[in-house]
This record gives sequence, structure tokens and C-alpha cells, in this order.
Amino acid sequence: MEMDKKYSVLFVCLGNICRSPAAQAVMQAMVDERGLSDRFYIDSAGIGGWHIGDLPDKRMRVHARPRGYELTHRARKVQAVDFEDFDLIVGMDAGNIDDLRYMAATIEQQDKVVMMGDYIRQYPNYDHVPDPYYEGSEGFELVLDLLEDACDNLLNRIIEQNKISK
Ligand code: 4NP
Repeated sequence: MEMDKKYSVLFVCLGNICRSPAAQAVMQAMVDERGLSDRFYIDSAGIGGWHIGDLPDKRMRVHARPRGYELTHRARKVQAVDFEDFDLIVGMDAGNIDDLRYMAATIEQQDKVVMMGDYIRQYPNYDHVPDPYYEGSEGFELVLDLLEDACDNLLNRIIEQNKISK
């Protein structure tokens, strides 16, 4: 598989059409910018399967584009095999974390599950990435602000802990 020998990160939200495909694009851009494309495999998936095969929500794509992110992911559902394949599984809110920990087959797999909110630094009022689906434009901008902050901190942590270099 393409992800062999790469450090692999799976971003997970509820529908895989707003938050997690945006997180995937933000993280991929940061990895590319640092010249680490060969060292990482970044993907996203949803807890639910309502939008399987769909592009990200139009509103998310419209808000992401001016920041330089083209969202081309096709929605998919989290699979049991993801817990074997990925090094790290990052949930967007407490509900995602509960669902992911429940799905994990072993303690080792449970330990792969981390909370995106733990990497938010610049927005102390947020301990999670809120679902923008029923929100207006501000909700989508907020998601992108939180993701840009959290991805930078998360990437630094991964690089440091796994001694990843070009
Ligand atoms: P996401 O937003 O979890 O950030 O992709 C949602 C998108 C769709 C639904 C829920 C959340 N939905 O219930 O269809």
C-alpha cells in the first residue's frame, strides 16, 4: 500500500464532508510546504456513511479555496482496518473520540486515537472543532482557523516524537 513506511494520519469527523477533509487538506499543505510529502500519508474518513463518495460540502470548499486548499477528497466511512493501517487517528470532537475508541479492537488501537482539540493553542475557548454543518459562513471560517492552528501543532509533535526529517 502507498502508505507503507510513511507516517500515516487519518482525520475523522461525523460526515467526512466538512471538518475532516478540510483537516486533511490543511495538513497535506503543511507537509508539502515542509518538503515532507514522502514521509507522510494523510487521509480522512467519517463516523457515518451518509455521504460516501461525495465531494466535501460546497460551503467548505468555497471557504477553503481562498486559503489555498482544494478539497477533492471523496467521503468514506471509517473501517476496522483503518485502526491497523494508520499510525494516528484524529477525531474532531468528543463524540468522534467516543465512537473511535469504541470501534478500536485493542488497547493499542485505542491509543492511536487523539483529539484535535488538544492541539488548538491560539483559540483557548475551543477544546474541539465544532460541527459547521448547520452553521453559517462564520462556522466554516472558524473550522479553518482552528484546523490551521491545530495541524501546525500536531505536525510539530509528530515530527518531534518520531524524529521525522526530509
Ligand atoms: P462533518 O459535518 O462531520 O464536519 O463532515 C457533518 C456533515 C454531515 C452531517 C453531519 C456532520 N450529516 O449528518 O449529514
